[in-house]
Amino acid sequence: MTRVIAVANQKGGVGKTTTAINMAAYLSDSRKKVLLVDLDPQANASSGLGLERIEGASIYEALVGESPARDKIKRTALDRLDIIPSEVDLCGAEIDVARLDRHLFRFREALAPIVAEGVYDYILVDCPPSLGILTMNALAAADTLFIPIQCEYYALEGLSIISHLLRQIRESGTNPNLAIEGILMTMFDSRTNLSQQVVTEVKSHFGELVYENVIPRSVRLSESPSYGQPIILYDDHCPGAKAYRQAAREWIRREKQKAAAAKAATQPEASIEAAPVPTPADTPSAAPASLS
Ligand SMILES: Nc1ncnc2c1ncn2[C@@H]1O[C@H](COP(=O)(O)OP(=O)(O)OP(=O)(O)O)[C@@H](O)[C@H]1O
Ligand SMILES: [Mg+2]
Repeated sequence: MTRVIAVANQKGGVGKTTTAINMAAYLSDSRKKVLLVDLDPQANASSGLGLERIEGASIYEALVGESPARDKIKRTALDRLDIIPSEVDLCGAEIDVARLDRHLFRFREALAPIVAEGVYDYILVDCPPSLGILTMNALAAADTLFIPIQCEYYALEGLSIISHLLRQIRESGTNPNLAIEGILMTMFDSRTNLSQQVVTEVKSHFGELVYENVIPRSVRLSESPSYGQPIILYDDHCPGAKAYRQAAREWIRREKQKAAAAKAATQPEASIEAAPVPTPADTPSAAPASLS
């Protein structure tokens, strides 16, 4: 089953793209098949994975119904990681898509055939830093939201906006089942008390949703996009790389735990169904006719 995960936070520069690229890379390294969709006209995820801007290569045409999204998929340097890149035409999508029918559901409908094929384990969507049409389309299409939060003073203000938005998206019926995949603390600076205070504060609000693995501030992480490489290729042994590798493992572990919990929740019903049908001798006289 393909799951769609929006990497989103309306705040700029909090590590969305760095997280989208590197989680996608390490999930693919854990034998998961991943499609990264760059939904940001800035195209940072595309250049960070070494893709050149090619006119007409973005998902724009699929959003306006001119071409299937599948035709826009490109390979990356990593075996199990593909991408639908962005380019500047996506700027126009904010206005052009807003004019169309079902304008909030254009991305969901464009992805539907790819989701139905089930080739990918995950479709990760790198969202722009805004609450415009593109981000709203991502939230309408996603099963879950993965939220990177920078360890800085204003982090909590940003979070209350996301929480409010999430409630609205659910309650308006745009995406009633949208859930939070997880919250990842980024750019942690162990030399400051502030970083630790922010992590503690975010955990006090969001508890278990906050990932145990925290991404440290790392020069190598900030350098790697200029070489068009995810950190797994640029410097797989630096602290930032290790943190993203661990975070990807935590993602998979949490997913397994959720699946096990969901299975356990259905277990009692399963055991009732599997229980032997009583023979007439066992059946009290008041038993329903269907059992006798
Ligand atoms: N852990 C980190 N350590 C050091 N630098 C980082 C780290 N994570 C991200 N950066 C740098 O911080 C800047 C912002 O990161 P990034 O582009 O991932 O954020 P973003 O939320 O996608 O930004 P935008 O809102 O503009 O899309 C980039 O220059 C990036 O290289
Ligand atoms: Mg970005």
